[in-house]
Amino acid sequence: MTPGTASGTVSGDVNRPLRVLQVGAGGMGRGWLRTLLAYDQVELVGVADLDVARAKEALEQAGAGDVATGPTIEALADQVQPDFVVDVTIPEAHHPVTMEALRRGLPVLGEKPLAANLAESLELTAAAQAYDRLFMVSQSRRYDANLFAYRRQLRQLGRLGILTAEFFKAPHFGGFRDAMDHPLVLDMAIHAFDSARFLLEADPVAVYCEEYNPGWSWYAGDAAATAIFEFGGGLRYVYTGSWCSPGQETSWNAAWRASGEHGTALWDGDGPPTLEIVEGGETAPEGDTPEADPHPGIAGSLREFVAALRTGTTPMGTARDNVASLAMVYAAIESARDGRRVLVADVLEEAYAQAKARAQGPVLDVLTGWTSLTPPG
Ligand SMILES: NC(=O)c1ccc[n+]([C@@H]2O[C@H](COP(=O)([O-])OP(=O)(O)OC[C@H]3O[C@@H](n4cnc5c(N)ncnc54)[C@H](O)[C@@H]3O)[C@@H](O)[C@H]2O)c1
Repeated sequence: MTPGTASGTVSGDVNRPLRVLQVGAGGMGRGWLRTLLAYDQVELVGVADLDVARAKEALEQAGAGDVATGPTIEALADQVQPDFVVDVTIPEAHHPVTMEALRRGLPVLGEKPLAANLAESLELTAAAQAYDRLFMVSQSRRYDANLFAYRRQLRQLGRLGILTAEFFKAPHFGGFRDAMDHPLVLDMAIHAFDSARFLLEADPVAVYCEEYNPGWSWYAGDAAATAIFEFGGGLRYVYTGSWCSPGQETSWNAAWRASGEHGTALWDGDGPPTLEIVEGGETAPEGDTPEADPHPGIAGSLREFVAALRTGTTPMGTARDNVASLAMVYAAIESARDGRRVLVADVLEEAYAQAKARAQGPVLDVLTGWTSLTPPG
């Protein structure tokens, strides 16, 4: 089998709605409840949250008070017999919840980040392969028709030299993000890093990053960062972001500029991107078929996941693919900590050794058998 793909995960009448168990009913969990209830291809059969009252309240508010609830996946799975699990727990719970689901033979659509660290992420990626079930990360900002249009424009610029993303926002979350280490890079920049991989259709080689906290910042950890990623062919992707910059804010998707040998393409992250071909290039020929525009956000990732379960196609957010975006995050953090340029492959190798040291049984067998850490997703 191909690592991370769906292989025969839905049997019987594939036209019936697929039964889904959601784990986690916090802030984002409420959004998932609404999305699952609005999609006729799935049937919400259970919601697990350590705080069962929270799960019940979220279901009542969503008008689905009769759906079964319980504290954990272990407590509910046998009772509700799901076809798959949506994991919307906190990052630290992604590993135990997703591992338990995969061990039970249940495919998982999980919230980002894949797991709380890179070693756990590799272990879960191997578990999906060991138990032959799809594990896909819902990297929701990929599901944006304008991002797809921007990628088509980049393909018309000839050789690319520079890609920049600027992100300036000033949200007062008041929760875990205000207290955590690396709030911007860990919790937010993962989206822009993942978008860069999507746009460039490649993975970075190295990064130099500085994290910093402007004097007026209301975050305990560094709320700003600049990271320079080197991709193949010498291309540089430069990300500058801040979560404490009021005024003239950018979109949540950041503001992008791509510079290539034939021209420049801009995207403000909200509206349609714009392209200027200056010389030597060609705009897309008549009749060029654009990729299908995806549904936006988590509704888009849900549709892609369900289609993958029904048809066996490989979605763009397999754990195997997404781990490369998370590697960008941890390589950037290591670079900022040590004040040096870091090779992404070194960070992955270190995490791979840690994953092998903690894995067991069939998951360890799969990890040991890997010959490359970054095969195609
Ligand atoms: N894609 C996006 O734009 C986006 C936006 C916000 C949050 N998220 C992600 O969604 C996830 C959830 O974030 P949130 O803001 O809803 O967090 P939250 O703290 O509001 O809710 C998490 C819930 O999970 C429950 N939980 C924790 N461990 C559990 C376990 N082992 N079993 C069952 N329930 C458990 C908690 O009781 C809590 O109710 C995070 O990974 C976060 O990064 C993504």
